Amino acid sequence: MSNANPIGIFDSGIGGTSIWKEIHKLLPHENTIYLADSKNAPYGQKSKEEIIALSIKNSEILIEKGCKMIVVACNTATTNAIKELRNRFDIPFIGIEPAIKPAAHLSETETIGILATKGTINSELFNRAVETYSDVKIVEQIGYGLVQLIEDGKMVSDEMTQLLKEYLEPMVEANIDYLVLGCTHYPYLIPQIKKIIPKHIKIIDSGEAVAKQTKKVLEKNNLLNLSKEKNKQVFYTNSDSTVLKSILGFSDMVFEKDF
Ligand code: DGL
Repeated sequence: MSNANPIGIFDSGIGGTSIWKEIHKLLPHENTIYLADSKNAPYGQKSKEEIIALSIKNSEILIEKGCKMIVVACNTATTNAIKELRNRFDIPFIGIEPAIKPAAHLSETETIGILATKGTINSELFNRAVETYSDVKIVEQIGYGLVQLIEDGKMVSDEMTQLLKEYLEPMVEANIDYLVLGCTHYPYLIPQIKKIIPKHIKIIDSGEAVAKQTKKVLEKNNLLNLSKEKNKQVFYTNSDSTVLKSILGFSDMVFEKDF
């Protein structure tokens, strides 16, 4: 395994690009391969077994392409499948989970809100984390429909505004002062979320923390790419690539491929 081998990143779709952006910002010399499994989105409505099978399939593709490490840029896949992935494959895996810990520590109203998929909110890993912070009131909300609207290119739409209002207004009424975004698609909704919730409510997502953890694990395993040569950022989607290209802001190295 050479240090120049790429970091593999996958998500149920385009949401994990919010994590790729953080990783690329912190580690600009790394080569990366991103898989958007949009054909199978949303994962959040699938069974644990289905999420595990899809996560294995994505990891196998990335490993075949020579990835030295895999970032599971999906809360739903992490909370349901990371254990199986780590047991099955012998390269390092980085996962992402809703940032309950910082929100619970920082909250002054002792009430925090979490917006995540059904798959994440029902997972054992998530519920164990919630139990750890039982002194804080956690208002959980499943973001039904949000991932699909983003995947369909309806990020800014009346339907989106209506759903966000329906999900967020009860949290505001419950007096939350932190809103945790527990799905990698949701950071793209921040401008709209800010129009609905009052200014004093802070929004937390896990993107930066995941990038820092990626760097730490690369260092620990002596896998950092020290070459300053031009690196490659490649993206594959098994669906129409229009929305992925627009969210990235570029279209070279974005490929449509069936997987
Ligand atoms: N980006 C995925 C996550 O972080 C979305 C899951 C889905 O496809 O429902 O959970």
